[in-house]
Amino acid sequence: MTILPHGGTLINRFHPKMDVTTIQHTIELDSMALRDLELIGIGAYSPLTGFLNEHDYHHVVENMRLANGTVWSIPITLPVQESIASQLDIGDKAKLTFKGVVYGTITIQSIYHPDKHKEAELVYQTTDLEHPGVQKLFERPPIYVGGEIVLTKKLEKTFPNETYEPAESREQFTKLGWNTVVGFQTRNPVHRAHEYIQKTALETVDGLFLQPLVGDTKKDDIPADIRMKSYRVLLDNYYPKERVLLGVFPAAMRYAGPREAIFHAIVRKNYGCTHFIVGRDHAGVGNYYGTYDAQKIFLQFSKEEIGITPMFFEHSFYCYKCDGMASLKTCPHSAEDRLILSGTKVRTMLRNGEPLPKTFSRPEVVEVLVEGMSIRN
Ligand code: ADX
Repeated sequence: MTILPHGGTLINRFHPKMDVTTIQHTIELDSMALRDLELIGIGAYSPLTGFLNEHDYHHVVENMRLANGTVWSIPITLPVQESIASQLDIGDKAKLTFKGVVYGTITIQSIYHPDKHKEAELVYQTTDLEHPGVQKLFERPPIYVGGEIVLTKKLEKTFPNETYEPAESREQFTKLGWNTVVGFQTRNPVHRAHEYIQKTALETVDGLFLQPLVGDTKKDDIPADIRMKSYRVLLDNYYPKERVLLGVFPAAMRYAGPREAIFHAIVRKNYGCTHFIVGRDHAGVGNYYGTYDAQKIFLQFSKEEIGITPMFFEHSFYCYKCDGMASLKTCPHSAEDRLILSGTKVRTMLRNGEPLPKTFSRPEVVEVLVEGMSIRN
């Protein structure tokens, strides 16, 4: 028995043969909306069948639920310019294009002016434009269009060998004989701390679905192609093949911390995961969120309404006195015995070609990262 998707049914709104030639209106998408269109279409965002209408939007922003009560923590919206919105009416259909190519259609249910300050405050807990998610929110056009979509064309796969739609990953898990699968979200290379929490989780479940996010990330995050190389080399050398599946998550990163942790968990349930790892400062950036806020937020919902089981991990690191990986929960030693490097420090070291210590990252991974970053610089 595989886990039920969020809302009970895996949504499929992919209709490549749909005739779009008679549709007059066109809405040009940004890359975030293009990714969201595809993710709605393939069921990754089940039960969403389109971009949020006004009613659902308010419920999501204010209560982390759709209007029907289903938990949903991140507003998935379609922002358009005033000049476009003024030509549209409720009930109209519009083609959804990216760089002029049609990827889908929308049937317009609502056209509304969001209060972006409120959205920033409630979803990101800040209106600071230094926050990359908030910056993106305010950069996007000012009017939202909601309504059901049809996906008519899928994006070209950047990592074809590591792309599984929700229906496909579910099929893979069944083939592999996994009853319990833990999903892992990351926008970073997998360092020793990530490996430690993944393998600790793997001690109690059948398989690991390593699902790095490969949609838009902030400029100083390590590019997805370099990361993918580093995951492959890590898996080849340190993980049992029959217990891990590597598959990309093509959404954009929002950096919404706790709210995004709920979203990430629910989406991984749609991909067929039964468990989901939430460690330290999940989907966080800077100091906007408390270290464990992304874990605490799960307490606001019942187990049944989330459906996927979160696996929480404390801050993990290499400890010289323990002579191994440990966490705040298991290591009795003090800060100076532990190797802790900030994300910023790690990126600076990689850019300067400085090798990361073996106790922080596997040498094979460091090699790929240093080489990748030196070519990019
Ligand atoms: S992100 O997508 O959540 O922003 P990141 O790579 O930083 O990506 O983290 C991936 C997952 O590992 C998250 O669940 C995060 O909480 C967890 N994590 C990262 N570093 C550590 C650490 N040192 N100790 C415990 N958990 C960690």
